[in-house]
Amino acid sequence: MTIAPTPVAVFVSGGGTNLQALIDELPKTGAARVARVVSDHADAGALVRARRAGIDAVVLSNPKDQGELLNAVKGIELVVLAGYLQFVPKPIVAKFRGRMINIHPALLPAFGGKGMYGRRVHEAVLASGATITGVTVHYVDEQYDHGPIIAQWPVPVRGGDTAESLAARVLKAEHVLLPRVVTALAKAGLPHSFRMFVDTLDMSLAETDPMVRR
Ligand code: GRF
Repeated sequence: MTIAPTPVAVFVSGGGTNLQALIDELPKTGAARVARVVSDHADAGALVRARRAGIDAVVLSNPKDQGELLNAVKGIELVVLAGYLQFVPKPIVAKFRGRMINIHPALLPAFGGKGMYGRRVHEAVLASGATITGVTVHYVDEQYDHGPIIAQWPVPVRGGDTAESLAARVLKAEHVLLPRVVTALAKAGLPHSFRMFVDTLDMSLAETDPMVRR
């Protein structure tokens, strides 16, 4: 008996390279599929990727409108926030508790929270003198970058790094980690609550080197 892939909605605001990683990687196991892409920006590059892949794309006219959001997630079992810059209204978060995840380009709880997105995250990491940063995938709760952590992946900060070079290295790790987490959650059944560790996901620091992957 074949089990239908878990339908996933990916929420985006920008370029959508994480969306692209999901589009490319999820079919390899078939446990989940990107069924819809939801954007708060009509000109988000992610929408071009969605349309190119023949995926249903929705542009929100008001990201605070719960009715519109509920419509956008109809038939969806897992919501992935991948570079989505809007705060998700609390009733929607509650409805998708344990079924809504976010990817953040640092090791939470450090370097997260309101206003910590894009290059600001990597600038803060560099300013702190930290030698390790990374990627966090976590369940979404009612606070920015706060819900239970599902998986993390460390990425080294190298001497001479700029916010751009660090962002690029972290992004490579994001593109590997996010599809693996989505696949694992879909296989485990939703809602589900557990942590994945680097070891169990069979990942190594070497893989985060942009010279090694992609
Ligand atoms: C990623 O760094 C993600 O962690 C953060 O926003 C960025 C989105 O990049 N939440 P992209 O749109 O997937 O290229």
